[in-house]
Amino acid sequence: MTDRAKLGWPGQISAEIITLAFLTTIQNPSLNFASAGDLCTPISNSSLFYCSQLEADIKTCQQEHGKSIVLSIGGATYSEGGFSNASIATSAANNIWSIFGPIVPGRNVFRPFGSSVIDGFDFDFESNVQNMIPFANQLRSLMDADMVSTGKQWLLTAAPQCPYPDAADGPMLAGKVHFDAIWVQFYNNYCGVQSFIPGASTQNNFNFDTWNTWAKNVSLNPNVKVFLGIPGASGAGSGYTSGSKLASAISYCKGFPSFGGVMIWDMSQVWANSGFLDSVTEDLGGYTPSPSTTSFTSPATLTTKTTPPTITTSPPSTTSSPGLLGQWAQCGGQGYSGPIVCHPPYKCVALSVWWSQCE
Ligand SMILES: *[C@@H]1O[C@H](CO)[C@@H](O)[C@H](O)[C@H]1NC(C)=O
Ligand SMILES: *[C@@H]1O[C@H](CO)[C@@H](O)[C@H](O)[C@H]1NC(C)=O
Ligand SMILES: *[C@@H]1O[C@H](CO)[C@@H](O)[C@H](O)[C@H]1NC(C)=O
Repeated sequence: MTDRAKLGWPGQISAEIITLAFLTTIQNPSLNFASAGDLCTPISNSSLFYCSQLEADIKTCQQEHGKSIVLSIGGATYSEGGFSNASIATSAANNIWSIFGPIVPGRNVFRPFGSSVIDGFDFDFESNVQNMIPFANQLRSLMDADMVSTGKQWLLTAAPQCPYPDAADGPMLAGKVHFDAIWVQFYNNYCGVQSFIPGASTQNNFNFDTWNTWAKNVSLNPNVKVFLGIPGASGAGSGYTSGSKLASAISYCKGFPSFGGVMIWDMSQVWANSGFLDSVTEDLGGYTPSPSTTSFTSPATLTTKTTPPTITTSPPSTTSSPGLLGQWAQCGGQGYSGPIVCHPPYKCVALSVWWSQCE
C-alpha cells in the first residue's frame, strides 16, 4: 500500500526516504499500491499498470524536496517463493532493473513510472524465498555500475522483523548482500518497541542491541544503518508506542553506532495520526533542511514504510575546499552537495550510500 497523496507533504518535510509498497510478484511483475493504484491504467499484455500521477510525484519528491524513492519487493501476499535457480534470479533482476531502473534509449519496456527512475529497492519477504541472494546481488551490481558511470546514489534495503535472525530475509542478511540500510520491524512481535523498558541499560525483549551486533559482526556492509521500525498509529500494527516512552526508546537507540533513524509503517496511518510525525522528528533531534548539508556523519533518518522517511540530526560538517579534493575528502554521499572532483591521482570511491571519498 502506498498513499500517493502524501508523497508531497506540505511545509517541513521530515520523511527523507519514501518506500512504495509493494511489487507483489517478480517473475511476471505486478504491483499493488492499494488505493494509490486506482488512478493507474493497465498496460496491455502485462500485469503492470502505468501511473502518471506517481511518475510526476516521484520527480517532485526527488527534484524539489530531495527525497529518495525506493520500491519495496514482496509484502505479506508475495507467494512466488523466489526462484528455482540462480540464473532465473539473475535474469529477473535484469528485468526489474529495466522496468524501474535507468532508462535505456531505444529499449522498448513497460515502465509503470514512465520517465521517472526510482532510487533503490527494498526487500520485505514474509515467507520462505529461494535464490534471493543472486537476485539481490545482481540488483546491487547493476546499481554499483550505474553509480560509477552516473554518480547516482542507489539504496538497497531490507525490512526484517525483529526476532533474530529473520526467517525470510535472513539468508540475504547473513553477510551475503551489501545493504545500505535495514528497517527492522519493531512491531507485531514480542521484541517490538512496546517492550522497551525506559531507564534500563539492558533490555529484556526489545532487541535493538542484537541488530546493532548484526551490523558490526555479520552484515556484509559494516557501515549499514539500522532503523527503528515502528507503527505510525494503533491501526498500523501491534505495539504502537508514543510519547515519552517512544522518546526514550529513540534516545536509547541513538547510543548504538549503527542507528540510522526511524522507519514508520505506514504513510497513510502516520499522516492521519496528527502530531505523531512531528514528535518523532523532535525525538530524533529535529530536522535540518538540507540544501547546504554537506555530510551524513551520523545520519538519523526517519523513514516511513510505504515509506521510509529521514531526519538528519548531525550538524553539517564542512568539507569546503573550492578546488579539487584531497585524499580522504568526502566527494559524495546522500545529502552531500559539496565538490565532487578529486585531485589526481585520487578517485571518488563510494564506501556507502552515505559516504564517498577520494582515494
Ligand atoms: C499482445 O499479445 C498478443 C498475443 O500474444 C500479440 O499479438 C500483440 O502484438 C501483443 N501486443 C503488444 C502491444 O505487445
Ligand atoms: C534454471 O531453470 C530454468 C527453468 O526451469 C531452466 O530452463 C534452466 O536450465 C535452469 N538453469 C540452470 C543453470 O539450472
Ligand atoms: C563482534 O564480535 C566480536 C568477536 O566475537 C566481539 O568481541 C564483539 O563484541 C562483537 N561486536 C558487537 C557489536 O557485539
